[in-house]
Amino acid sequence: MTNNETLSSPTGAGWPHASAPAPTASRPFRAPAPVPHATPLGFVSFVRTATSNPIEIWGTRAFKEPYIRGKWLGVPNIVVNDPAGVRHCLVENARNYVMQPLRQRILRPLLRDGLLTAEGELWRRTRKAIAPVFTPRHISGFTETMQARAALFAEGLAAREGGEVDMAHEMAMLTFDILQETLFSGDIASEPQSFAQSTREFLGSMGRVDPLDLLGAPSFLPRIRQLKGRKSMAYFRSLIAETIEKRRAKIARDPEGAPHDLLTLLVKADGLSSAEIEDNIITFMGAGHETTARSLAWTLYLLSQAPDERALVEAEIDAVLPTLSHPSEWVEKLPHTRAAFEEAMRLYPPAPSLNRTALAPDRAGDVDIPAGSTVLVMPWLIHRHEMLWDRPDHFIPSRFLPENRDRIDRYQYLPFGVGPRVCVGASFALQEAVIALALLMKHLRFDYARQTPPEVVQRITVQPANGLPMRVQRR
Ligand code: HEM
Repeated sequence: MTNNETLSSPTGAGWPHASAPAPTASRPFRAPAPVPHATPLGFVSFVRTATSNPIEIWGTRAFKEPYIRGKWLGVPNIVVNDPAGVRHCLVENARNYVMQPLRQRILRPLLRDGLLTAEGELWRRTRKAIAPVFTPRHISGFTETMQARAALFAEGLAAREGGEVDMAHEMAMLTFDILQETLFSGDIASEPQSFAQSTREFLGSMGRVDPLDLLGAPSFLPRIRQLKGRKSMAYFRSLIAETIEKRRAKIARDPEGAPHDLLTLLVKADGLSSAEIEDNIITFMGAGHETTARSLAWTLYLLSQAPDERALVEAEIDAVLPTLSHPSEWVEKLPHTRAAFEEAMRLYPPAPSLNRTALAPDRAGDVDIPAGSTVLVMPWLIHRHEMLWDRPDHFIPSRFLPENRDRIDRYQYLPFGVGPRVCVGASFALQEAVIALALLMKHLRFDYARQTPPEVVQRITVQPANGLPMRVQRR
């Protein structure tokens, strides 16, 4: 975290990037976001803002400069916006950077040794065991489930034609349903209703930054939100543990007859104990449903504000979808649909910060990184950076069409991160999103139902503060 008051910037040398113009619509839509403040926040308003809406702490300089140095409670921090610096810290010298203690304090009590929060040797072993679960062959096998669930969901929405729905909520329901089905195939150790309720309570406890964490208070001091969630967390974990043991028994009885889902793949994976499978299932539920849901809802919102772009996507779906046989092809064959989703993830990155702590002194560009300092790689800043994007705040999906793609540096677009800790579920999410959008938009049109733009807040993911009310029409 950065106290803007203490920010200073280096010379800016080693910043060769110019804006990369892409062919654009004539009057693209400007995507709402908190207005960066011109002067630094004082200590109290910094703490208040960082705990209520962290993406609001940033000033105008954060969207203009390659590196920004600051200090928080005596710990140096460096905002790295320069793609070459991102490559250095997250890829070339990734071993020098561990997960930031603040993030670990928030997530580790919930996710324990899951891939997202594991470090060192445990992370390496877990990643090796889990990577094969997400190979293209396995993900392609999930696309029919994604198609079936999304089609059913679209039917449900069609029945609410003319009404207003909160798409932020609806998309979370859809992606939860898809994830649950691809994880367990409905084979869970409780009634679906009580399982869903228990999952909701668990996800609710992932929410906000506790002021105690921000102030670096030791972990033995109880956080109020953690205390509240402890009982429901224990119950949720017991349901997952029972579900795993049921499946283990099923696989032992009939190895080929077990459902083809993520749980079977995890149970059959090399070298994962039951406790580790439990942590990773909980991690997938935490990392792999709300993220996709947010981006889907933002995509539908942005398209509703850009009728020309929406018309392009609808025309593509109408023309191409009937010619495709298997849903695993859709992500490649629907470039406008995919580009709209990718542009939504640029403007509203579900994971807006990828922060690390430096183990040993290092240097990125011409900036020294002392041992122990916090390195802030912020998709929220990089994706809207004035030096990296033409009209950075505007919704211009054509940037992501295949013919324009090579104008985008690999290290300036980071919705799934980069380097060894890149999102293991990235292609799962992309396939799911394109399939869901195609089926939702095939017969339906969604229009934003409020006069005022949504207020954008960060609660782990970047989301609308009060939902995204949209009117559903058949088209
Ligand atoms: C649009 C959807 C998604 C987005 C934007 C997203 C974003 C990310 C990002 C940025 C990271 C890297 C974090 C860092 O470097 O600090 C990450 C890691 C991870 N993601 Fe995703 N994710 C998405 C969907 C999924 C799905 C569907 C799953 C699983 C079913 C998943 C599971 C994970 C896991 C396990 C990690 C940790 C990887 C590691 O540390 O080795 N994510 N995700």
